[in-house]
Amino acid sequence: MRLALFLSATAMLAAPAFAQRTASPESRATKTEAAMTDAERTILTQGILAVPLFPGMPPLPAEAIPGAGYVAGIPRLNVPSLRESDASLGVAYVMGLRKDGATALPSGMAMGSTWNPAILRAGGAMIGSEAKAKGFNVLLAGGMNLIREPRNGRTFEYLGEDPLHSGILGGAAIAGIQSNGIISTIKHLAFNNQETARGILDVRIGEAPARESDLLAFQIGIERGQPGSVMCSYNQLNGAHACDNDWLLNKVLKRDWGYKGFVMSDWGAVPRLEAALHGLDQQSGAQLDPKVFFDKPLADAAANDPAYKARLADMNRRILYAIYASGADKPAAKAAIDFKADGDVAEAIAKEGIVLLRNCGGALPLAASAKKITVIGGYADTGVLSGGGSSQVHGERGPAATVPLGGDGPFASFTSQQYHRSSPLAALKARAPTAIFKFRDGRYVTDAVQAAKDADVVIIFATQWMSEGMDVPDLHLPGGQDALIEAVSIVNPNTIVVLETGGPVVMPWLEKTAAVVEAWYPGARGGAAIASVLYGDTNPSGHLPVTFPASVDQLPSPTLPGSITTEPNPMGKPPGVSLSLDYDVDGSDVGYRWYARTGAKPLFPFGFGLSYTSFEHGGLKVTAAGKVVTASFTVGNIGNRPGADVPQLYLVSVNGQKKMRLAAFDKVALAAGASRKVSVSVDPRLIADWKDGGWSIAGGAYGFALGASAEALGPVQTVRIAARKWGPQ
Ligand code: GLC
Repeated sequence: MRLALFLSATAMLAAPAFAQRTASPESRATKTEAAMTDAERTILTQGILAVPLFPGMPPLPAEAIPGAGYVAGIPRLNVPSLRESDASLGVAYVMGLRKDGATALPSGMAMGSTWNPAILRAGGAMIGSEAKAKGFNVLLAGGMNLIREPRNGRTFEYLGEDPLHSGILGGAAIAGIQSNGIISTIKHLAFNNQETARGILDVRIGEAPARESDLLAFQIGIERGQPGSVMCSYNQLNGAHACDNDWLLNKVLKRDWGYKGFVMSDWGAVPRLEAALHGLDQQSGAQLDPKVFFDKPLADAAANDPAYKARLADMNRRILYAIYASGADKPAAKAAIDFKADGDVAEAIAKEGIVLLRNCGGALPLAASAKKITVIGGYADTGVLSGGGSSQVHGERGPAATVPLGGDGPFASFTSQQYHRSSPLAALKARAPTAIFKFRDGRYVTDAVQAAKDADVVIIFATQWMSEGMDVPDLHLPGGQDALIEAVSIVNPNTIVVLETGGPVVMPWLEKTAAVVEAWYPGARGGAAIASVLYGDTNPSGHLPVTFPASVDQLPSPTLPGSITTEPNPMGKPPGVSLSLDYDVDGSDVGYRWYARTGAKPLFPFGFGLSYTSFEHGGLKVTAAGKVVTASFTVGNIGNRPGADVPQLYLVSVNGQKKMRLAAFDKVALAAGASRKVSVSVDPRLIADWKDGGWSIAGGAYGFALGASAEALGPVQTVRIAARKWGPQ
């Protein structure tokens, strides 16, 4: 009996620990917060930039890892510190302060071009594992602002211009990251769609267009990825800073969407203490703000004001919830990284993200008979381009080349074009060992033309470098590359252009070329991925996640907003300067929806992508049963090689009125000659409009069409859908 008693006593003693582990994150968070002393309650609510950025900054805490951020823990309560690293494309190099390399994913544009949530989840799982192996438990990823402004310097970081596409893909990446037991963010909420004057600009937009575009992308991304934290953005939204915005943070994010995690600020984005009452839970990089508001000022406010006292408890519960829900409280030893396996993940995504834009006369895939191959420009003999700013990743031995662009201040080290160690030329030579390659760096047109004259094929690599902190002034290829491509294509019509761009570019030389491939910033193994597609070992299946304008005159704002009145440096908050952007011009008609409204014909439409085989779509049938709208159709591979297609279902009319919204999509791999019936369900928010505080389907006749892009649409199928209204979910 005693033994039994002893066992049961032991079991009871063990129960709290055992119960503790199996208790819900909410109950654990409530319990831990209740055990905090007042002095402990402002430990988790503020963190530092874990980089000695300015002379005279205090030394980093021993436990901090040089990186984006550090938030102290509470050892007495087994609450870990938060070691935060950037970002969506891998573990960032922190301006070279850390020399341990990481695997660079291809850019957000490349990931968005895959239209494949599974492969984005794999990419997130990989970079999350590297972050964890390095000792980080927060990865500041999930960048998914919609591309409203293709000159945005951070276009390369983001996924695309459509809320469903970005929400599904961004959510998958976040889920992959968090599968490692660390916290991912989703960022930057909301409407930080350009870098110029990001610190002072005020975006004005009505609630309906806001809910139906950028906010819907975040809503879907949060539902699917369950990020532990949301990062609010630098800009103002309808007159209030995004990080001090009661409507955005308390009403939309926390009340309407039921978000349980915590809101962290962007670095240097907190204007005042009152932001705590307006939904901000953690002041990040606090030394960049006018004051560390969320330390003693917050403690004093909580001691004297019940509203702050209650808020402070909630702030801690939310941060603790994210820690427990993600598993970031579980101790993890640093580990070695398998750079070979991780590079394979990056290469697979790069291959699937490359978009074949033009292919005349079977110029691609390269014929084995092509013996004399001239390769020009783009540092193709050295590596592949990457984007600048906080998301910049360095490989194990650092970049193959760094081309400084000057500049001063804290961003000076960001303003350099860095090339990952993956040379397209080396990969092409390895793939075609008997071919005779000639490389020219492309600085002199005459030299390039001379080298192109007698080649069987010419491959020109053209680059557009982008970076956080500055937008591009136009969409031309910089540095005379347009003229170079024009001149070479004239002397050798079998010219193939490989673009390594951050976002869309115009192509005045397009009709003179034989083929064009958009490789974006293709990441750690980009050279190999490019060679694989050019030689046909990979059949390209990328589809554009953004519209390529024929000219900036087609954009809602032909002149880059603010580029005349303010310095491009976003951290700069020039006194007395204000900038208001009217996003109601395009409203929720972002990207392809804008072109549908204006009737302008872009250079390449959203969703466009060629293949070395051909696909056909047929048999579209849309059914509406109760609240569920589904579509089925067949996809056939009618060419002679295996490939993957991206059938896109668009809502094109409502009761006879034109409408243009991506309603669903899939990625379908098919052997030559094979076909498959595909079924997709339509998220009702894509056929609804925001009205009177919720979603509303007007009811009536809804027209859907299957597309190979936003322009190439098949026959319209009309279905009757019942009217209904529901809340903000
Ligand atoms: C930034 C970026 C944000 C990043 C943070 C920390 O300026 O806007 O994306 O996570 O600082 O580096």
